[in-house]
Amino acid sequence: FKFQDEQEDSEGLWRETFKKFVDIKANGPTSVGLDFGLHGFSHVYGLPEHADTLRLKDTSDGEPYRLYNLDVFGYSIHSPLGLYGSVPFLLAHSPDRTVGAFWLNASETLLDVQYDCKKVKTKREVLPHTNLRWMSESGVIDSFILLGPSPSHTFLQYAELTGYQALPPLFSLGYHQCRWSYDDEADVKAVDAGFDRHAIPYDVIWLDIEHTRQNRYFTWDSQLFPDPVGLQRHLQERERKLVVISDPHIKVDPSWELYSEAQDRGYFVRDREGKLYNGRCWPGESCYLDFTSPEVRAWYSSLFALDKYKGSTDSLHVWNDMNEPSVFGGPEQTMPKDAVHHGGVEHRELHNLYGFYQHLATVEGLISRSGGLERPFVLSRSFFAGSQRLGAVWTGDNLATWEYLKISIPMLLSLSIVGVAFCGADVGGFFQDPKPELLIRWYQAGSLQPFFRGHSAKMMKRREPWLFGDTVTAAIRNAVQQRYCLLPYWYTLFHQAHTSAKPPIRPLWVEFSKEQDTFTVEHEYMIGSALLACPVTDPGATKVKVLLPGSGEVKLIFKHAFSKVPLFQRGGTVIPRRTKPGSCSADLQKMPFSLTVALDSNGCAEGYLYLDDGHSFNYRDKKHFALRRFSFCLFCPPSCTDNTGQFDSGCLVQSVTFLGVKKKPSAFLNT
Ligand code: NOJ
Repeated sequence: FKFQDEQEDSEGLWRETFKKFVDIKANGPTSVGLDFGLHGFSHVYGLPEHADTLRLKDTSDGEPYRLYNLDVFGYSIHSPLGLYGSVPFLLAHSPDRTVGAFWLNASETLLDVQYDCKKVKTKREVLPHTNLRWMSESGVIDSFILLGPSPSHTFLQYAELTGYQALPPLFSLGYHQCRWSYDDEADVKAVDAGFDRHAIPYDVIWLDIEHTRQNRYFTWDSQLFPDPVGLQRHLQERERKLVVISDPHIKVDPSWELYSEAQDRGYFVRDREGKLYNGRCWPGESCYLDFTSPEVRAWYSSLFALDKYKGSTDSLHVWNDMNEPSVFGGPEQTMPKDAVHHGGVEHRELHNLYGFYQHLATVEGLISRSGGLERPFVLSRSFFAGSQRLGAVWTGDNLATWEYLKISIPMLLSLSIVGVAFCGADVGGFFQDPKPELLIRWYQAGSLQPFFRGHSAKMMKRREPWLFGDTVTAAIRNAVQQRYCLLPYWYTLFHQAHTSAKPPIRPLWVEFSKEQDTFTVEHEYMIGSALLACPVTDPGATKVKVLLPGSGEVKLIFKHAFSKVPLFQRGGTVIPRRTKPGSCSADLQKMPFSLTVALDSNGCAEGYLYLDDGHSFNYRDKKHFALRRFSFCLFCPPSCTDNTGQFDSGCLVQSVTFLGVKKKPSAFLNT
């Protein structure tokens, strides 16, 4: 069947027109779909990336949820439209069971959700019921039902399919300072010194597009950054790192070796007529590397070798941006669906995987650069199912408003429960200038989220933490210092994500799976199983109500503005901290530990601490790690430590604090 006549194609089955764009469907009309009924469920979660509630909404009266990776300027909140990344996986939860549904398809995908009730004939009971309808533009039906039955079983089953969270280098769990853009080397050094002057710990400073020679990635603007190696050494002396941006578009410039080599080797995406696909992005006219080709990925990876990437050192890490891909003036600001990739595959078939493949190539480049020894850090804006194996993602260009601060929590929880656990939102908001109160509240919230980076757009005012007066600086310092003291706990949680697929931040229902009043809570969440966080996301808050599962709601009154961040330790847990924050994560290693033991009603508590060198693969290849279990119980003898690994941290536990001891102990106990 060949398309003959435009008249016969009024429904756009072979050729679709959208504004000035024409999409030629060379392979004809295709689409796949499947309906599922989830009996007994009325809560469905996941399916990022949407700026929407944690529990997916019923879409009967509106648009379906869309998964189509796009660069959306100033994206709307509470919209079912897709953002920068897609994970076609959702979890359904009831007090009795959790199940997962994974729809493995990388073309444009829609999901309808309909919450319903069904009568059970024999029992005269009414049971909740959820109808799901998956629809994708192309591809095949490749769908997985994960049977749980608990949230952790479901996480594990999904990780077995798509991979576990990469164990991040420790520094990347510290604070990151970014700005579009830091002006030059002197500016970077001044900001770096500012952190020390104000005793605010931080680990990484970031360079946006302007550090390059007119947006040619892998190059440096020689006026602004004449000595990039010197700059990295300067930061390294303080054990800090540099992250630079590397986007997937390549400036069309035949005199630039990188462009001409990629062109000669046929490494760019082509248009439907077989010519080089030309789009516009930061450098102007650009071509797009075809990361779906293994050969292109291997070549791109090789560009990160230290002798190839001039001006780079092993303390340089990478940020992949604009990789939906973003094409200025393209259909929906992206690549046309009829562009052609390696093997003659149309872009429509794999659109949602494009960014994943760039992320993969970058990660492999950094690993090879170190001879396979060092863990890389790569942040990507676009992602797909499995991106957790590669590194971190963030929620793109948010706005400096209270609504965007609030929505960051359900957005990050939705990512976390579908495996993409190393995630964050731009602290302070990317566009617009935050008022000091919002900035403080955002730092406090961000310090309790997995990826913690301050970032702002170039048209916005500078906002390093010390620019708003002593009170603001002190509040931000306090939030960042608390984050650093808690890094041993975060790192242990990431080890658990890496080995057993438990997301470091989790909705309350994951931990309190039978308590129905937790099922729609989306502004409180658990950090691991021990801490409950409820960041303040309203202006002028003098009190906040917090649901403590099992104990009901408590009201906290703040005596001083901005003073408190509601964070509760659960009875029965032990939290490891460092006693002092240090100036960065490497400095933190010199500080002794403290343990906070919160007893449960039986007088028991347990917790874990994971340690390794924080940067290499020796934990995996040589078993150089230590995993300690702290258990305190009045009634049972102390028990095991995991002895499979070995690591000498040389660190001391300086103090142990007990919470919830009802009467003065008559003697000290050995634990
Ligand atoms: C868009 C990204 O989302 C933003 O974080 C970045 O600063 C700009 N691109 C410029 O590179």
